[in-house]
Amino acid sequence: MNQVFDAIQRSAKRIKNAIDIKDIGYSQQENSSGETQLQLDIQCDMIIEEEFSKVAAVHTISSEEKEHAEELHADGKYFISYDPLDGSSLVDVNLSVGSIFGIYEGGFGAENMVASCYVVYGPRVEMVFAQNKVKLYLLQAGDFEYVKEIRLTEKGKLNAPGGTQQNWEPYHKEMVDSFFKEGYRLRYSGGMVPDLHQILLKGGGLFSYPGTSDKPEGKLRRLFEVFPFAFVYEKAGGEAIDGKGRLLELGYRHLHDTSPCFFGSKYEIARVKEVYSQNG
Ligand code: AHG
Repeated sequence: MNQVFDAIQRSAKRIKNAIDIKDIGYSQQENSSGETQLQLDIQCDMIIEEEFSKVAAVHTISSEEKEHAEELHADGKYFISYDPLDGSSLVDVNLSVGSIFGIYEGGFGAENMVASCYVVYGPRVEMVFAQNKVKLYLLQAGDFEYVKEIRLTEKGKLNAPGGTQQNWEPYHKEMVDSFFKEGYRLRYSGGMVPDLHQILLKGGGLFSYPGTSDKPEGKLRRLFEVFPFAFVYEKAGGEAIDGKGRLLELGYRHLHDTSPCFFGSKYEIARVKEVYSQNG
């Protein structure tokens, strides 16, 4: 695991440089979700693949930017799913973006997850690594330095509601509004990594990306975004559900499957469960 952790750190430093210097522009290719890939998406994907290729413990990788999984080392034990540059469309307006990693033993699937990690590229580069505990690191003078352990409070203050409101179910809208009526503040940048990072570091709240009338299974991908963050939130003392059950109990049929998802402190998730068990 230490070697995996080191490879992620090396990747993060190289990706930070790529974001700083790379010309921004679209490639001629689409990813498996039908989105036109930025050149930067492809470059970041290659960086991570190169770094994991050097680690014998990594058996297979699967990337949001690749159609199929790729075996790297037949004797390795770790399977790693990753989103190399989540929120990459925000780079041109200079908002924070991130990389997300799910680490599994013996095969992909939430039940096999043993660790997860994400990196935030903002004014500073920070990394959060979740195993038994959730630990925050800061890139300082070329190295990631341990900062502190992260724990979520029981009840938060922030509300990050994703998805096109026009397509929300009425009961979902009512639930989102109920938090605002209670004094919650809106925080939504359009980048899952900084939005979930803010909730984790600033005392809790709710991030939701529901199923909508146009996308009943939501937008966010199970293996590349949803499972890794569900692992982080649970290990930090919060909860992560699809409306009713734990996200980490969901399976997947295709690598690029999506799921509605709700991440938060216990208080907010209890309300999601109440609303969704009556309506969903
Ligand atoms: P992408 O990597 O294609 O830019 O998508 C970003 C993801 C996620 O980071 C974010 O929470 C969500 O898409 C935002 O979606 P909406 O624009 O629909 O709110």
